[in-house]
Amino acid sequence: MNPMFYFLLALTAVLAATTNAMPAVLDVNGDVMFGGSSYYVLPAIWGPTGGGLNLSSLGDTQCPLYIQKEESEVERGIPVKFSNWMPKVWFVPESQNLNIEMDVAATICVQSTYWWVAPSNLPIMTFWIAAGPKPEHGEDSSRSFFQIKKTDEFHRGYKITFCSGDGGCDDVGIARDANGVARLAVGSEPFPFVFMKASEAETSPKTMSII
Ligand SMILES: *[C@@H]1O[C@H](CO)[C@@H](O)[C@H](O)[C@H]1NC(C)=O
Repeated sequence: MNPMFYFLLALTAVLAATTNAMPAVLDVNGDVMFGGSSYYVLPAIWGPTGGGLNLSSLGDTQCPLYIQKEESEVERGIPVKFSNWMPKVWFVPESQNLNIEMDVAATICVQSTYWWVAPSNLPIMTFWIAAGPKPEHGEDSSRSFFQIKKTDEFHRGYKITFCSGDGGCDDVGIARDANGVARLAVGSEPFPFVFMKASEAETSPKTMSII
């Protein structure tokens, strides 16, 4: 297609992102994030806080898979894609309900990999995030809507929150399961992330100089 078209598209997006009351989420390079692209979700602090996100079984049951956080900072894991926000904008908006999907070709569980808040298993009240089918409108939205919110402490750092139907949001952080595996869980201390565009990550070695 005409390169001018892309230029205008990008310009429109930047203008919309900077002049609107609704800010766009920016990746670690300061670029506006879009729904069609995939992004690694990495700790805002490089080093001991580990790497990106992956999928793995929790406990004895193989499926569904749950979101896991890599221990090593060199593992970027699996990137995510954002979708399904209400405002008619091309960019990923801050503080709006949206769905998050692991951008992976196939898993042993042969189903989509959208984030869902799993019901907790008593006696341990931990709300893990599982990978599951594409959420449908209606009842599904109460367990599959997340928001990305800016954190002030970190440059281009964001936290992810889970927003149930009643308007309230709870922070998504890291908790360890019975086997000591770090996983995303709702209701934990907020964990600050940065987003790195997946296609750039392979070619650009400088992208990890976050702070
Ligand atoms: C996810 O974890 C599995 C099992 O540890 C590993 O084999 C795989 O390479 C990881 N995937 C990515 C994309 O890092």
